[in-house]
Amino acid sequence: MALPEVARPVWTSDEGTMAQETARTRWEGIVQNMVDTVGSFMAKNTLRPQQKAEALDIQHQLRILRQEIISNGRLQPINLRGDPDERWYNKHLGCQTQLSWQAAPWLFAECYLYRRVQALFGGSVFWHDFDVFKDQKDSAFINSQTAVQDLAMQFIINVEQGDRSDDSELLRLKEFSDIIQVALWGNATDLSLQNRPSAEDLKLIQKRRFAAAVVDNDLDQLWSYLNAPAYKASDRNVDIVLDNAGFELLTDLVFAVYLMDRRIARKVTLHTKAFPWFVSDATPTDIASLMNLMRSAEDFPCRDYIDPLCDRIAVHLSAGNITTTQHWFWTTGSAFSDMPWRAPDLLQDLSKRDLVIFKGDLNYRKLTSDCLWSHTTPFKTALGQLGSGSGLKILALRTNKADVCVGLESEDQVNQLNQACPKGGWLRTGKYGVISFSDGE
Ligand code: F6P
Ligand code: MG
Repeated sequence: MALPEVARPVWTSDEGTMAQETARTRWEGIVQNMVDTVGSFMAKNTLRPQQKAEALDIQHQLRILRQEIISNGRLQPINLRGDPDERWYNKHLGCQTQLSWQAAPWLFAECYLYRRVQALFGGSVFWHDFDVFKDQKDSAFINSQTAVQDLAMQFIINVEQGDRSDDSELLRLKEFSDIIQVALWGNATDLSLQNRPSAEDLKLIQKRRFAAAVVDNDLDQLWSYLNAPAYKASDRNVDIVLDNAGFELLTDLVFAVYLMDRRIARKVTLHTKAFPWFVSDATPTDIASLMNLMRSAEDFPCRDYIDPLCDRIAVHLSAGNITTTQHWFWTTGSAFSDMPWRAPDLLQDLSKRDLVIFKGDLNYRKLTSDCLWSHTTPFKTALGQLGSGSGLKILALRTNKADVCVGLESEDQVNQLNQACPKGGWLRTGKYGVISFSDGE
């Protein structure tokens, strides 16, 4: 019997990897941005003396954290406040000798970074609800004007045409493929790779949508599953484990509305992060924030298609067809294959769903344990405990922003990609993506 394929998680000490580059160059800049954001918030707002003192202390702690990163210091234990994940982080640190910023599993260290930041804000009296990334998220969304208008126009026109059109299989598949591409390429807009992108930068990123750049495309299998006669479409529950707020979140909402309008799903549950995470990830308040911004004629002056789109989303939100939820497991440094023992309640919930869609790069890294798999490893194999035999129907929609990528057809395909985009270009830039499906059988 063939032994299951094993691979190991990428470390920040692995030469030439995106992990190493991130630890050496990107993290300190992200923390510096947080220091600056707290500073400009203090400058713009009138604060009571205790609020100000606490903000200064947080800023000071952030500077210490940045220094630890720059000097490749040891990863320090997180202060215990009784949150469900703290002991796990600290136990992990205790088990591994001398984890330092530039010598640690990348997935763990990067999640630990955002968890350390949350310990500072979350543990404070006045700043526990402060979202240090909010300004960046909101301004990137406002700067996404052109893409928002295009998406609204395309969606509303399609809806009108769809209502009139014959319901041929081919048309339905074409429409499904288009909307999946929208949700997939929405993931190209994330703010942990791009620091404060301008409207022009965003226009370029958001214009991309190339079916040919999907390196693992399981659309046909997904479509067959969704159209299998055994399933009663009208009863289906679909979950989306969200990634980024702003433009990507809008594409997810549009996707959710489409799934219900076309009776592919009855109900869609969106999983947000419980606290600010990886700069642009969606937190519970980001949905209301996005709707408010889109309703503002000052921020989005061309209203022709945006108003009807907002109305359509709002109907589903207020009817409870689209709901949101959170779980502490989404903000730990665990690979998802640890879910059966770390978060069995969450796994049990997801098992009841007809489809669970994981958006984005970080979720993909967690699905595949952030391992240096050979690129031709089947997606199901890389899912480990959540793959074969799990019964979970998993769809990953992710633009590639890290070295892990599985499900490719052949070594030939890998070689062609390496030639066309040397130095990991097809893995790291967000210009390529995957639509990977596992039926859990
Ligand atoms: O790989 C670069 C990176 O910033 C990682 O830190 C993280 O996995 C990812 O991009 C964030 O992207 P996404 O928002 O798609 O999860
Ligand atoms: Mg993200």
